[in-house]
Amino acid sequence: MVKLAEQRARWDSRLIFLFAAIGSAVGLGNLWRFPYITYKFGGGAFLIPYLIILLAIGIPILILEFALGQKMQQGAIGSFRKINRRFSGLGFLAAFICFVVVAYYAVVMGWSLIYMLGSLHAPLPWSGEPEKFFANNVLQRSAGIGDIGSLSVALVVALAAVWIAIFFCVFRGVKSIGKAVMVSMPLPFILLVILFLRAITLDGALAGIAYYIRPDFSLLLSGELWLAAISQVFFSLSIGFGVLIAYGSFNPLRQGITRNAFAVALADTGLSLLAGFVVFGVLGHMALVQNVPIEDVVKSGPSLAFAAFPQALSLLPLAGIFSLVFFVTIFFIGIDSAFSLVEGVTTVVRDRWRRIAVPLVAFIVCGLGFISGLIFTTGAGLYFFDIIDHYVNSYLLVAVGIVQCILVGWVYGAEKMRNYINSVSRMKIGRWWDACIRWVIPLSLGILMAMQLITDIRTPYEGYPQWAQAIGWGIIILPLAIALLMAFLPSRPSPAAQR
Ligand code: PHE
Repeated sequence: MVKLAEQRARWDSRLIFLFAAIGSAVGLGNLWRFPYITYKFGGGAFLIPYLIILLAIGIPILILEFALGQKMQQGAIGSFRKINRRFSGLGFLAAFICFVVVAYYAVVMGWSLIYMLGSLHAPLPWSGEPEKFFANNVLQRSAGIGDIGSLSVALVVALAAVWIAIFFCVFRGVKSIGKAVMVSMPLPFILLVILFLRAITLDGALAGIAYYIRPDFSLLLSGELWLAAISQVFFSLSIGFGVLIAYGSFNPLRQGITRNAFAVALADTGLSLLAGFVVFGVLGHMALVQNVPIEDVVKSGPSLAFAAFPQALSLLPLAGIFSLVFFVTIFFIGIDSAFSLVEGVTTVVRDRWRRIAVPLVAFIVCGLGFISGLIFTTGAGLYFFDIIDHYVNSYLLVAVGIVQCILVGWVYGAEKMRNYINSVSRMKIGRWWDACIRWVIPLSLGILMAMQLITDIRTPYEGYPQWAQAIGWGIIILPLAIALLMAFLPSRPSPAAQR
């Protein structure tokens, strides 16, 4: 599909680019992160901000990243650098985020491997009590972040298996994945429709779904809610990571952009919304059975999908088979996102140190990813995940989004970029796009981030102890400092910039 050779590699066709972009966007973010974030922020209350942010911020940035890569014919660092040399640190930040995210992303895929094996047991090991199974058997969760517990051997093995799979995808190039994606991309849609039909026919499901889609305007004033919507949109569309810039750069200079961006956004959002229907249908049912309000059925958090989906699956005939197919799907839906994240890191390393062989770079990045992921396989893993995810996604990712828009909107020129986009795309975009890139996105993201900063300084996130918050701050301050250094230290011209 793509040859990462000295000359700019090319996708075989426009369709393959589209599949790869959808493959990167559609992932655990849709099936796992979207439902729990929605649940955490009150169901219907979350959907409105989510959709607004998608239209006003997500889609414009998606267009921007596709266009930037395609126009500059370079990955993130090279593209930013071409606009202004001082901004190559921005590409470094994006690569750093990719690394942190893939470290825990692989762990979540590891959870799904454990469920895959569990599906082979009859009766299902979690039947009746998926939440307990998840906390006690999969995570061996400790009482709090201060109690680190021990490494879960099963999870470590699963994590190693995931990394080996990722390594083979990256090291062999993306060719084989091209084929896998053709199957693994439609599969989740079909499965989710089946689960949807099962979920909505459960007793009590409608109450759950009502909770999911009933808007609650009173909550719209919460800045935290909006920031959560923003980080979910970024995470889910894969924007702010530099990955889609790289993907765009493998396109020929004169390929249409706008329709592809809309197609990716549509597929991604469609899948998230569908996953939401399933999860909330099941939550409604569980609320009825347990006789508690929907907001109290399960603990909101990253474990939600791993409680609700197994529950829904165990209520199907041939539960074992459906469970197996479902968790295989999760694995496949995750792997093309995971390896695109790894590519986000390896591309940067390769551009900087050209002489290291490609497989060696892949090996080092995967090895470090595995080692860093071990922290998430401890009893306190889920708490660490929660903190790191919060800080990285609400600050670093959003910061990359802001600076990237300022760079293209003001330094390069939004109008110039729009003219380029319109000159190659059949579907034209209007001046609204310039306004979004130059004003709406930097201002709204900036204000929300400042508000969140004040909140986080005043009240420690989720009540975690000081030292744990310090880890969160450290993880964002350190790379920011490096990026700033890169801006102000004299540097040698990069080989990437000369290509
Ligand atoms: N978009 C992916 C998901 O929703 C995650 C991802 C982010 C993948 C950034 C690649 C780059 O699961």
